[in-house]
Amino acid sequence: MWDKIYYLIMIPMVYIAFATFIGGLIIKFIIVFRSKKLTGSYAIYPKSKYPLAAAIGESVIVPTAFKKQKLFWLMIIAFHIAFFLLFIGHLELIREFKILQIIPHDVFLGGGIVGIVLIVSVLYFLFRRFKSPWREISVPEDYVLLILLFLTFIFGSHMSLASRYGIAGFDISVEAYRQYLSSLFTTSPAISQGILASPHYVLVVLHIFFANLFLMVFPFSKMIHSVFIFIAQFIKRK
Ligand code: HEM
Repeated sequence: MWDKIYYLIMIPMVYIAFATFIGGLIIKFIIVFRSKKLTGSYAIYPKSKYPLAAAIGESVIVPTAFKKQKLFWLMIIAFHIAFFLLFIGHLELIREFKILQIIPHDVFLGGGIVGIVLIVSVLYFLFRRFKSPWREISVPEDYVLLILLFLTFIFGSHMSLASRYGIAGFDISVEAYRQYLSSLFTTSPAISQGILASPHYVLVVLHIFFANLFLMVFPFSKMIHSVFIFIAQFIKRK
């Protein structure tokens, strides 16, 4: 029975998760672009001579957070840098990209630091919401999303550290992940033998299960702001 459940999580659920994620993003874009134009202005003064540069600066360096709370700012920056590396790391788990190896490195990127930084920052974002005044403006969905992220990170990080440092004889190779993930992009999805035969298979399943849930919830959560932040900043500065 477990074999069937694992299969459902590793293959059909991944397709459903990505379809929901992409479909959800498209729906959100349609809703935002078709919504009624608000009267009044959101302009930020003094106006910058270079609105594009100012919008990029605000979205990337988040100076507003820096002015308000230094630790919060540090966590935002650490989270976003780690998330960028995480994205590249997952791309390299699908297949080799020569351009990403300009600076030669082992796959997965970061030697295990990426997962640790993400775990620490997501726990900070979670516990911050336990305190006033953030507690009053939080809704259950905010906690659910952060808990899903935490669970995804903890299993991913465990696999990454265990394989890199050979803990508990962790035996799933990058090649085994590549066979599985690249098969998902073809018409013949299959779980590679390297994953199927490993006693650590359950960790992969758990990581992918929580990642799937996260991908399905993300477009409908407040975190969607990250997709619109740059456009919003640009409009305010135009
Ligand atoms: C279906 C999609 C996904 C698959 C197949 C997948 C697969 C993997 C695999 C195989 C690893 C271990 C790599 C290694 O052994 O070095 C890993 C690591 C990791 N994954 Fe995923 N993942 C997916 C989605 C996600 C998502 C959506 C997130 C978070 C939003 C995530 C967060 C992480 C983290 C934090 C690590 C550890 C990175 C490190 O510390 O080096 N994964 N993932």
